[in-house]
Amino acid sequence: MSREARINLPYFDELFKNFQEGKTEVIKCFGNHVHWGYWEDPATADGSVEDFEQAAEKLAQKVYLAGQISSNMRVLDCGCGFGGTIASLNNHFTDMRLTGLNIDSRQLARAREIVQPRDQNHIEFTEGDACELPFADNSFDAVLAVECIFHFPSRQRFFQEAWRVLKPGGILAISDFVPRKIVIPITKTAPKLVKKLGGSYYGRVDLNFSLADYHKLSRYIGFKSLVEEDITANTLPTYPVVGRVQNKGEKELTLAEWTSRWGILRYFIFSYQKP
Ligand SMILES: C[S@@+](CC[C@H](N)C(=O)[O-])C[C@H]1O[C@@H](n2cnc3c(N)ncnc32)[C@H](O)[C@@H]1O
Repeated sequence: MSREARINLPYFDELFKNFQEGKTEVIKCFGNHVHWGYWEDPATADGSVEDFEQAAEKLAQKVYLAGQISSNMRVLDCGCGFGGTIASLNNHFTDMRLTGLNIDSRQLARAREIVQPRDQNHIEFTEGDACELPFADNSFDAVLAVECIFHFPSRQRFFQEAWRVLKPGGILAISDFVPRKIVIPITKTAPKLVKKLGGSYYGRVDLNFSLADYHKLSRYIGFKSLVEEDITANTLPTYPVVGRVQNKGEKELTLAEWTSRWGILRYFIFSYQKP
């Protein structure tokens, strides 16, 4: 896949346009984190952008806690968006060496502008592909990928790269949309229909990787599974808020909302340790 195809993410073009236009609701929801929210008790969600903002922060925390992050660590966040997860780590831990990696230099420019290191933390943002990590073997205590692995050219290649750059004992923590195995033959054999139903607002997205595929892949790589948590129900209050503040991508959002509500497309947090 060409580099252009990998950075063809129309939803980010739309976000930059909205930021320029000063759309405050979009800036609150997606100016920092660009992912779904996590509500410990979904019944408490009030549909406001402030509530969504807090829930988005909680989702980043949920993923990095699955990565057993503590102070004094070297952490790599792949597909780091605008650096929201790096900013949260920077706010909660000290003596950290934090690296955010992204394929899109425009997002990195914004991340560098809005995330400043504190408490002896060191932060760098690097341009690159998560499947070809520009880092030495055995160099990170944790590797994170929050809600972005479905964009990467290959989950297997990313797992291999994460394994390579992790120190022994290091942890990979990710979140991903995971389809029920039963629907994969349909989505694989009818990509045109899926595209028609969904559109292409979110760019190249691979939602064909089942729970069984994750089990097989992690075993193949040699990772020990630590966390495998279905948080679909905790993310559902995301949809009405995103639908309201986003004026594009309705088709994909509606498809994602209903397949999530029906339990066909689930949202998982996974973490794995390199022995
Ligand atoms: C839904 S956003 C999530 C951003 C961020 N992780 C967050 O939670 O705020 C997906 C991100 O993956 C990045 N991305 C897509 N393909 C990539 C690749 N091959 N390598 C690195 N980053 C990639 C996109 O540029 C975007 O920042």
